[in-house]
Amino acid sequence: MTAALPPAVALCRPEEITEGEARPASVTTTWGETVGLIIVRWGGAVRVFKNWCPHAGTPLDWAPGMFWNTDRTLLLCATHGAQFEPDTGFCLYGPCRGKRLELWPTDMRDGVLHALAG
Ligand code: FES
Repeated sequence: MTAALPPAVALCRPEEITEGEARPASVTTTWGETVGLIIVRWGGAVRVFKNWCPHAGTPLDWAPGMFWNTDRTLLLCATHGAQFEPDTGFCLYGPCRGKRLELWPTDMRDGVLHALAG
């Protein structure tokens, strides 16, 4: 008997995300909340963060998918300008300096990156 997998939503195949790309996505949780996500490839690794700024709880992007600062080295919150490392989610500049974007739990299933939903 195999254990049931936890509920999850398919996001993409990791190879679809190019180096330096930050792509919006979302997951609807098992409790019915739709949560915005950011899929980022940086330094070769793909990570998924919750699209929720730790300063005031707004999405980072000023328009869908516009996540980068001007030189495309840090993720930018458009609301008050916080900037986050794309590999750790650590805030280097802005009003929530020292806090982090929340990593969203993920799972790989048959080569597809999934966001856990519950
Ligand atoms: S809400 Fe992101 S910096 Fe204020």
